[in-house]
Amino acid sequence: MEDLTRGNELIRDFEDIIKTQRPPDEFKSLKIGVDLGTANVVVSVLDSDNKPVMGAIQPAQVVRDGLVVDYVGAIRIVKRLKARIEEVISLPLKKAATAIPPGVNPGDVKAIGNVVEAAGFELTGIVDEPTAAAKVLGIKNGAVVDVGGGTTGISVLKNGEVVYVADEPTGGTHFTLVLAGNYRVSFEEAERIKLSKERSKEVFQVLIPVMEKVGSIIRNHIQDKEVDTIYLVGGTSCINGIERVIETHTGIKAVKPVNPLLVTPLGIAMLSEEGGG
Ligand SMILES: Nc1ncnc2c1ncn2[C@@H]1O[C@H](COP(=O)(O)OP(=O)(O)OP(=O)(O)O)[C@@H](O)[C@H]1O
Ligand SMILES: [Mg+2]
Repeated sequence: MEDLTRGNELIRDFEDIIKTQRPPDEFKSLKIGVDLGTANVVVSVLDSDNKPVMGAIQPAQVVRDGLVVDYVGAIRIVKRLKARIEEVISLPLKKAATAIPPGVNPGDVKAIGNVVEAAGFELTGIVDEPTAAAKVLGIKNGAVVDVGGGTTGISVLKNGEVVYVADEPTGGTHFTLVLAGNYRVSFEEAERIKLSKERSKEVFQVLIPVMEKVGSIIRNHIQDKEVDTIYLVGGTSCINGIERVIETHTGIKAVKPVNPLLVTPLGIAMLSEEGGG
């Protein structure tokens, strides 16, 4: 297992900057990433030393599992986040990379890139999400499992290369649906319950079967792949204790960084080229 200390420091700095909206006093040229997720759109700005400079996040339903479902809405949100960051750091954001989950078909990849360009960025590249996550975590081997909004993406890395990918349609949305069914409330109310700290113990109990399902999905995909550590990223991996359920269910050590939701967005910026501001 590799040490996540450096990655965790970086994630914590990025988290602080998103909260406080206070950029560091000094930074070198910028590298920018745009993550168009099923649940959240995130713009990440780092400097050339990978120091977090600024970031902005907005919940949105404009992309579903790498497929743009609201093109105009997606552009509007990226433009808004870009403008907000430009105002805070008093510099223009020019070039950005974006990312796609594994297995997205080429037409949809193009649409994701088009959103970033239409929002006013010069596109530096479209990276692969697990590679971006692995870069932040500083790992070369193991399975990166992204439990996001719509899907669970599984990627196996060997010597820094992604050698196996799979994407299964179980993600945070399904967790929310389980809660909606259990408590007989609307999806929106169930999402609030899922995120509320006060009810986390009881929510955890209700969610055990769906966490176990994620565990079996992971096990089915990686059992013959000599994986010794599972690295959990994506917003759904924020659930306290999910790593224990996954570990028990797969028999493989499962770890997660301090804020799994911010890993892929940070990695996209890391893999982008310089030339932001
Ligand atoms: N603290 C938390 N506890 C439980 N679930 C959480 C928490 N924070 C975020 N989530 C869930 O994480 C999901 C969003 O995660 P993320 O931002 O990684 O998804 P995404 O990248 O937008 O989606 P995808 O990768 O599937 O396209 C949502 O379902 C949200 O409810
Ligand atoms: Mg994602």
